[in-house]
Amino acid sequence: MEVTTTLRRLGVLAAAVAAAGVMLAAAPVEAQQGKLKIGLMLPYTGTFAALGNAITNGFKLAVEENGGKIAGREVEYFTVDDESDPAKAPENANKLIKRDNVDVVVGTVHSGVALALSKVARDNNALLIIPNAGADEITGPLCAPNVFRVSFTNSQPGIAMGRVMAEQKKKTAVTITWKYAAGEDSIGGFKEAFEAGGGKVVKELFLPFPQVEFQSLLTEIAALKPDVVYAFFAGGGAVKFVKDYAAAGLNKTIPLVGPGFLTDGTLKAQGEAAQGMLTTLHYGDGINNPKNTAFRAAYLKAYKNEPDVYAVQGYDAAQLLIAGMNAVKGDTTKRADLIKAMEAAKIDSPRGSLALTKAHAPIHDMYLRKVEGEENKVIGVAVKNLTDPPRGCKM
Ligand code: BEZ
Repeated sequence: MEVTTTLRRLGVLAAAVAAAGVMLAAAPVEAQQGKLKIGLMLPYTGTFAALGNAITNGFKLAVEENGGKIAGREVEYFTVDDESDPAKAPENANKLIKRDNVDVVVGTVHSGVALALSKVARDNNALLIIPNAGADEITGPLCAPNVFRVSFTNSQPGIAMGRVMAEQKKKTAVTITWKYAAGEDSIGGFKEAFEAGGGKVVKELFLPFPQVEFQSLLTEIAALKPDVVYAFFAGGGAVKFVKDYAAAGLNKTIPLVGPGFLTDGTLKAQGEAAQGMLTTLHYGDGINNPKNTAFRAAYLKAYKNEPDVYAVQGYDAAQLLIAGMNAVKGDTTKRADLIKAMEAAKIDSPRGSLALTKAHAPIHDMYLRKVEGEENKVIGVAVKNLTDPPRGCKM
C-alpha cells in the first residue's frame, strides 16, 4: 500500500517536472534569460565627458523607440565612468564583464581605453559594440568575431580631408594632435591621402593626452607657414585648440582643418573662432533623409538639445544590437546566429546607410562640412561609401 502511494507520488512529481520543462521551453526568452544586461563603459568625466553623455542618450533613445525593450527583453543598464584613462580600462571592463556579467558591452570613446577594453572582450568572448573609439587596429589585426564598431576608423576622416586638401592644390601641411592611437591614426590617414595627391606633410606636432597647453606649438606653426594645418582633437580639447588657434591670429592666414570631431558638439563654445572651418566626417547638419529628420526631432524632444555625431553613434550601436537580437528572438545563447545577423545588418542611420566590413568596421559616406553659425553644414560628399582595407584582420 505504502509502495503504491510512493510510486503514485513520484509519478505526479515527474509529470509536474515535465510540465514545468515544457512551460519553460515555451516561455518567452525573458522568463528564461531575464533582463538583457547592457554595460555602458564610457567617459562621464574629463575632456570627453560630453561625448560619453551624447552616446548614452543616443543609445537609450533607440531603445525607447523600440518600446523600451530589445527583442522582447527588458533592458538593464550597468554604467562605468572610464575617465578616458587607459590604465584603468582592464579593471573597468572586468567590472562589467565579470562582476556584473553583462550580455553586451557598449564602449568606448578613447582609443587607448578601447584597445584595452577590446582585449578583455576578446579574452572573455564578451560581445562588444564600439560607439566611438576609432583605433584602426581594433578592426585590423586585432579584429574578432565578438567585436563590432558602428562609428568610424580614425584614418577615415583623415583620408577624406587629405583628398580634399590635395584637390584644393594645397602643397604643404602641418599636423597637430595628442600623442595616442587616435591622433596617430587620424594623421596617418590624412598624410597618406594628401601625399598621394601631391602634397607634403612638413611637420607632425604632438602633445600628450589630454594636455591643452598649445602655445609653443602654435608658435612653431606660425614659423613653419604651411598652406594648411590638419588637427585631431575632440571634446574639451577641441574647444580650447580652435579658440587658441584663432586667438593667435593663425586662422587669418593658415586654414585649420580636421576630422569633424574638431567642431562637432563644440560650436556653441567655439563661437566666432570656428566660423568657416572645413572638416570631414560621417555626419553633419542638414543631411536630408527621413531617418535623420525623425532622429533629430526625437532627440531634441527627449534631451532638449541638438544631437551631434556621438549621439548618432550611440543610436546606431543600439540599432545594431536590436537587429542582431531580433534575429535570435532575444536568445543570447544563439551567439553564432546573433553575430551573423549583426554582420549582415544594413542600418538605416541618421548619417545615411551604414553597413560593416568583414572586419566589422563601418562602410559609410564621408561628408565635407563647413562651419556656419552653430552648424557643421554638409556642403558635399568627400568620399562615397568609404570602406576600410582588411589591415591584417583574419576572420
Ligand atoms: C578616439 O580616441 O578614437 C576618439 C576620441 C574622440 C573622438 C574621436 C576619436
